[in-house]
Amino acid sequence: MVRQLARIRQLTRRNHRGRSPHRKMIQQLTLSLIPHPSFSPSSRHLILGLVAAIAGILLSTLLSSPAQSQISLPLAGGETTIQNRTSRAYEQPAPNLDEYWSDRHAVGDRAFEAAFVTAPANVNPGLGPLFNGTSCAGCHIKNGRGMPEKGQRVVRVSQLVSETSTEAIAATHGSSVPTSPALETEVPGANTPPVAGIGLQVQEQGVYGYAPEAVVQVTWQERQGTYGDGTSYSLRSPQLQLSLPDGTPLSEGVVFSNRIPQSVFGVGLLEAVPESEILQLADPEDGDRNGVSGRPNRVWDIVQQTEALGRFGWKANTPTLLQQSASAYFNDMGVTNPLFPDADGNEDINREILEAAAAYVQTIAVPARTLLDDPQVQQGERLFAANCAVCHVAELHTGEHEVPAW
Ligand code: HEC
Ligand code: HEC
Repeated sequence: MVRQLARIRQLTRRNHRGRSPHRKMIQQLTLSLIPHPSFSPSSRHLILGLVAAIAGILLSTLLSSPAQSQISLPLAGGETTIQNRTSRAYEQPAPNLDEYWSDRHAVGDRAFEAAFVTAPANVNPGLGPLFNGTSCAGCHIKNGRGMPEKGQRVVRVSQLVSETSTEAIAATHGSSVPTSPALETEVPGANTPPVAGIGLQVQEQGVYGYAPEAVVQVTWQERQGTYGDGTSYSLRSPQLQLSLPDGTPLSEGVVFSNRIPQSVFGVGLLEAVPESEILQLADPEDGDRNGVSGRPNRVWDIVQQTEALGRFGWKANTPTLLQQSASAYFNDMGVTNPLFPDADGNEDINREILEAAAAYVQTIAVPARTLLDDPQVQQGERLFAANCAVCHVAELHTGEHEVPAW
C-alpha cells in the first residue's frame, strides 16, 4: 500500500448541525478539479467550498510576493498547508493548530533536535550502547529525507531460512533470538526471521568500548540506458556488503534492505486516514486487472498489543507515529523508553519526551505544490496521473484523530 501522495486533500469533518452528532458533514476545503466519487455535496456545501476556494485564491494573491505568484491551489495538505519555498519549508508547524498543540509542537521540536550522548551526562544521556544516529533531526535532515550514509541510513536485515525453520524461529520471535539491543515489532509469525546477534536492524555504531554489529560498505553501480526518444541516461544504485567487525562476511542467506530516512512532514495526516479508507484501496489479487496489486501490511501494535495496519516506514512496518518514534529512539539511537525499556525495565527517556517527539511529527505543516503554471510541471502532472497515481493515490480523507485540527 503506497502512502506517498501526489497531494493529500484533507477533508475535515465537523458535526452537522440539525443531525445526530455522529453524522458528520464533510466540508471540502480545497478546490478539487477531480471530484471525489464519495463527495456529493448539497448546493450549500458547494458554495462553502467555492467561497473557501475564492478566499484562498484572494489570500494567496494578497500574501504572496511577486516571486511566489505561481503558488496557488490545490493545497497539498488541506488546512495544514503552508506557502513556503525556503530551506525551512518542511520545518513549520501546521497553521491550524490550537494553542495546546502549538505548545506540544514546540516541545516536540526540541525533542526531535536533541542529540543524545553516552550516559552519565547532564543533558540527553542514554545513547547506545549500539546506535545508528544520535538525534531524530540528524537523520531526517530539516525534516526531509536523509542520505544513504553511515549515521543516517538504516540497513534492515533478515535471515533467509527454509519454510520449516522459519516457523520455528517465528514462534520464538523476539524472545529467544538474541538481538542487541532490540526486540522488534513485526507481527509474531511474520516471515522476517531476525539475524542471530543482529536482529532486524544493523546498528552500525557503538559507544566507546562497544563494537558495531556489522560494517556496511557501499559501492555504486552505474547503469547506462536510453529513453524511447533516444536520449541516454545513467542510473546509479547502491551495492551493499555487510561484514562482521572482524571482517568476516555476514553468513549466506542474510537479505538486507538499505533505507534512507524519509521526510516526516504530512505523516500526521496519514495517521488520521481511517483504516477502512486504506483497506478499500487494497486489491491483493489485482481484481481490477490494472497490473497493480496493493496489499495492506499487518504489523504489531505494541501499545494495543494487537495486530494493526502498517502505515509508516518504507515498507509500512509501524502502525502509529508513537510507535515509530519509540522504535526510532530504541533501534536507531539505543535510547530506551516506555515502549521499549531495557531488559531490566530501565528507560533513558520518560513518556513525556517520547510523546513530545511523536506529537512533533504529527503536527508538521505540508508545503504547497509550486510552479503549477509551468508547462513542464503540468505535463508531469498528466504523466503522473496516467502512470503513477494508480499506486500514489491522489486523494485521501482524514477522519478522527487525537489532533483535533486534522
Ligand atoms: C539513524 C537515522 C534515524 C534516526 C536517528 C531517526 N530516524 Fe526516523 N527514519 C529513519 C529511516 C531510515 C526511516 C525509514 C525506516 C524504514 O523504512 O524502516 C525512518 C522513518 C521515520 C518515520 C516514518 C516516515 C514515513 O513517511 O513513514 C518517522 C515518522 C520517523 N522516522 C520519525 C523519527 C523520530 C521521531 C526520530 C527520533 C525519535 C527518528 N525518526 C530518528 C532514520 C532515522
Ligand atoms: C506499482 C506501484 C507504484 C507505481 C505505479 C509507482 N510507484 Fe512510486 N513508489 C511505490 C512504492 C511502493 C514506493 C515506496 C518504495 C519503498 O518502500 O521502497 C514508491 C516510492 C516513490 C518515491 C519516493 C517517495 C519518497 O517519499 O521519497 C517517488 C518519488 C516515486 N515513488 C515516484 C513515482 C513516480 C514518478 C511514478 C510514475 C512514473 C511512480 N512512483 C509509480 C509504488 C509505485
